[in-house]
Amino acid sequence: MDTTAGSVITVGLGGRSYPIHFGVDILGNLPRLAREAGLGGRAVIVTNETVGPLYCSAVVEVLEQGGIRTASLLLPDGEEHKHLGTIQRIIDFLLEQGADRRTWLVALGGGVIGDMVGFAAAVFLRGVPFVQVPTTLLAQVDSSVGGKTGVNHPSGKNLIGAFHQPRFVLVDVATLMTLPEREYLGGFAEVLKYGIVLDGTFFDYIEEHQRQILDRDRETLLQLTRRCCELKAMVVERDEREEGMRAVLNYGHTLGHAVEALTAYRSYTHGEAVAMGMVAATRVSAHFGCCSTAEAERVRRIIVASGLADRLPPFSRDEYRRAILKDKKMKEGALTLVLNEGIGGFRLQPVTDIDAILDVCGIGG
Ligand SMILES: NC(=O)c1ccc[n+]([C@@H]2O[C@H](COP(=O)([O-])OP(=O)(O)OC[C@H]3O[C@@H](n4cnc5c(N)ncnc54)[C@H](O)[C@@H]3O)[C@@H](O)[C@H]2O)c1
Ligand SMILES: [Zn+2]
Repeated sequence: MDTTAGSVITVGLGGRSYPIHFGVDILGNLPRLAREAGLGGRAVIVTNETVGPLYCSAVVEVLEQGGIRTASLLLPDGEEHKHLGTIQRIIDFLLEQGADRRTWLVALGGGVIGDMVGFAAAVFLRGVPFVQVPTTLLAQVDSSVGGKTGVNHPSGKNLIGAFHQPRFVLVDVATLMTLPEREYLGGFAEVLKYGIVLDGTFFDYIEEHQRQILDRDRETLLQLTRRCCELKAMVVERDEREEGMRAVLNYGHTLGHAVEALTAYRSYTHGEAVAMGMVAATRVSAHFGCCSTAEAERVRRIIVASGLADRLPPFSRDEYRRAILKDKKMKEGALTLVLNEGIGGFRLQPVTDIDAILDVCGIGG
């Protein structure tokens, strides 16, 4: 299949449906896509101090050439800025610029920018349109699709937010060429997640194309981002508000989040922690008879071969237990774990005996 010309899929959510466009060097398509989406003649681009110098002037230029008036806001870079204070800054800027209900926002950056800009768009004037131009692998395969937006609170991550779907998503895989290696590999962990719990054939594809993926081959990245978005769209179409099946996307995240919290979000990227969490999840899946030890080993092998760590950092069982209990996915005393059924399937497993699970993961007393 020749995809170099770019391709498009749709997230089917009735009146809130939207396209995701994939291509190489396709930022120039923004004005046309904006017109097709019925967006108005004024846009505010929100990005950060790292991504802005790389891509913002190109975005401004193509929009202005396309007859769209623009203003841009450069925010500081980092998850530590993902809080309500920064939302206030975005809103202050929109008011200074005289933005109205027809003004649309462009989230140009990774998941942090996407989550914040989406949330600002959800609440400014009770909702203005926004588009996602994700520039990290994680954002291109996960956070830019599905309409979850929000910020952190001092007592926990993503505690404040709203569902607000973008008007379209533009995935330009050429932007991944400037992404630091660790960020890229972290995104790759989320790519693997889709294969492990939703599509065994895709997992085979990833195994076969590991070299091209690690080399950031553009054609392979087009296939990869597109398949992940198709799978995410399928999940979101079935369960937009995470009342059931959308939980599958938390595969590897229970222990992943625990690792992030225990290391104060400093030692590992999100994807690195999720990779460890996924290796642990395969062990638990094997324990429950959901997959063979050979399948668990297949997952571990690809994680290690790509340069991600497979071992959980050595905290005590008590520390892991407390970190897991703090995670917001505990419901009525039971923790719902996402297990892999073979490779390519999943099962949501309620668990009450957390210690037994920690045992299986090799977390001692
Ligand atoms: N809304 C959702 O459904 C959802 C899903 C998963 C994760 N998230 C959120 O996403 C966030 C993580 O996103 P992330 O991993 O993209 O992190 P990020 O946005 O912090 O980006 C990682 C780093 O890469 C830099 N960067 C981005 N694009 C670049 C490029 N093309 N070239 C060079 N540098 C670039 C960023 O400035 C940053 O320093 C978290 O806040 C998480 O909660 C949201
Ligand atoms: Zn994740």
